[in-house]
Amino acid sequence: MRTYLVTGGAGFIGSNYIHYMFGKYGNDIRIINLDALTYAGNPENLADIEDNANYTFVHADICDADAVRKIFEENDIDRVVHFAAESHVDRSIKDPGVFVRTNVLGTANMLACARYAWERPDGTYPEDKKFLHVSTDEVYGSLPEDGGYFYETTPYAPHSPYSASKAGSDMLVRAYMDTYHFPANITNCSNNYGPYQFPEKLIPLMINNALLGRSLPVYGDGKNVRDWLYVEDHARAIDLVQEKGRLFETYNVGGHNEKQNIEIVKTIIEVLREELPDDDPRRAHINEDLITYVEDRKGHDRRYAIAPDKIKAEIGWEPETMFKEGIRKTIRWYFEHQDWMEHVTSGQYMKYYEEMYS
Ligand code: NAD
Ligand code: TYD
Repeated sequence: MRTYLVTGGAGFIGSNYIHYMFGKYGNDIRIINLDALTYAGNPENLADIEDNANYTFVHADICDADAVRKIFEENDIDRVVHFAAESHVDRSIKDPGVFVRTNVLGTANMLACARYAWERPDGTYPEDKKFLHVSTDEVYGSLPEDGGYFYETTPYAPHSPYSASKAGSDMLVRAYMDTYHFPANITNCSNNYGPYQFPEKLIPLMINNALLGRSLPVYGDGKNVRDWLYVEDHARAIDLVQEKGRLFETYNVGGHNEKQNIEIVKTIIEVLREELPDDDPRRAHINEDLITYVEDRKGHDRRYAIAPDKIKAEIGWEPETMFKEGIRKTIRWYFEHQDWMEHVTSGQYMKYYEEMYS
């Protein structure tokens, strides 16, 4: 039975990935989820599988060498899927230090511990050991509005402390592959959306604000473009890269689904109005009057767009969920899980929200 060590599995993409993997492989795999449970990590995201005998949660920090080594010593880990990171650009602008610590030093520690556990005295590695580093398209910087795509060969040009720290972590993985022949892959994915996303990111923040009748804060002119991918498509891509991808390669993951932020906000309003029952009192306030243009983000990247040609040609991966269907599924999920939203927005969230948007 193959054993996966997933880092950051209590966060948005990590928890969707764990659900996807148990859905696909059932109890033919074991998953150990290593997560520090920062503000972004929520064990509630995995409540339905916490009693599964093939699932283990380890509450630890990826920077903690002893804790990570212990996991490798006590388990024969076959695959590492490394999601754990600080992931929000606005927070990185306010406080870059923790991004360097977690994203750069944490990744360095994960690499060192995996190498220590896996490398043979002659410098080779057992065949089925693989490390997948989950990264972002933001490492490539910003594209002009009128054209161009991010390819795997696009030079890195990060602008925010978040993307710079992710670029640093990618470089460490590349260095391990080049120096030690360490068996790894990197995936650079575009913006994800779907269930369990923390409401500091555009889509869940707008859904939550609209339902509560709060204003919808659009940065700058609202015309920045992101390339949106339904999170389950990302989970499937990660699994396929480990199953069918060539080791040592980077794969860009995205679905040619570019949208301006303002289009996303208007779509959310439209779909919310369609989904709400006729007699729901919230219908009275959910309309475009809620949209408020606010000061732009510092260093705001104008456009991201992935060219997924390589992953499509080599692995046959393509997105399966089109945006219209994905955004409706996402909105329905937030409707059906309002208790989840209430739990994650209690406590520290309001302090963050007030500091960020007041
Ligand atoms: P998230 O912020 O929702 O979750 C991050 C998880 O990592 C949380 O569970 C948190 O508790 C955990 N974590 C943070 N610091 C840790 C530490 N020091 N030790 C152990 N665990 C720690 O993030 P996400 O949106 O799920 O992103 C996951 C990964 O995917 C990140 O590496 C991110 O850069 C990358 N990515 C995200 C997107 C996106 O649109 N969200 C797109 C492309 C790539
Ligand atoms: P976000 O979800 O933070 O992802 P990223 O910055 O990593 O792409 O933001 C997506 C886009 O939405 C980005 O251009 C910034 C914009 N945005 C707003 O206009 N208002 C908001 O309140 C937030 C959180 C984001």
